[in-house]
Amino acid sequence: METVTSINELKEKLNAVNSIKKLAFVPTMGALHAGHIELIRKAKLNGAYTVCSIFVNPTQFNDPNDYRLYPRNFIQDEVLLTNNFCDLLFIPVVSEIYPTNFNPPSYNLGSLEYHLEGQYRPGHFQGVCQVVDRLISIIEPDELYLGKKDYQQCLVIEKMLKDQLHKKQVELVKINTVRQNDGLALSSRNLRLSNNGLIMANKLFENLQLAAISFKEGSPWHEIESFHKKRILNFGFDKIDYFACYGIDNFEPIFEKTSTPCIILTAVYLEGIRLIDNLELF
Ligand code: PAF
Repeated sequence: METVTSINELKEKLNAVNSIKKLAFVPTMGALHAGHIELIRKAKLNGAYTVCSIFVNPTQFNDPNDYRLYPRNFIQDEVLLTNNFCDLLFIPVVSEIYPTNFNPPSYNLGSLEYHLEGQYRPGHFQGVCQVVDRLISIIEPDELYLGKKDYQQCLVIEKMLKDQLHKKQVELVKINTVRQNDGLALSSRNLRLSNNGLIMANKLFENLQLAAISFKEGSPWHEIESFHKKRILNFGFDKIDYFACYGIDNFEPIFEKTSTPCIILTAVYLEGIRLIDNLELF
């Protein structure tokens, strides 16, 4: 694997790639774990030349402390990517992605911007779109790989790809969440949890699973929601932003059992660290 830091170098390398091969892009903010590696693995299995970016994007952090403390393990990340056959790593500095003449577009994300993550992290999705749009314009991939742990982010990017004109049509490939044996969804932010916190954090997935069973059995959502919010807080989590059930097709809240596919999504704080997870119900 080769590593480049400038757009010029990156373009040079991409120009030399066999144009018959599909070009896959895996955007990341680093502190890579098996969830990211699964994205690389799937892209490689699809036969694509695979570019991974590591860029801790300042415009998507609504909390400056979260940005400052976001884990950065560039050397380890490079080794992990090399060992997993990634073809090219792009690690730009901020001025490469956002030069002084950069004029951030505004994205029409509809109600996605006001629900759940949009509501609790104002401006976050605009920042995500800015960076992904910019990286896509630079790399011009055929496929973009994202993990379903950030489910709403997948929907936001899907909308951005539909609305924004890129040179090539980009296919979004959504990959299932990778979990520890105890159910905890892998996340770079888990690195900031203490050993005790790590043990507690798996209770989140347990609550999603139990809520899914109750919902399938016909309990109304408001009862399930208040029961699990209390249960999660009783385990010692600091705070809950949301524990909600949404329709997969329209991403609107669902309150009663339905035959349409839905998803339970949650965001909580543990040891001051924000964790999100979700569980799809079919
Ligand atoms: O999911 C992430 O890690 C980030 O939001 C992304 C897609 C790499 C954009 O910075």
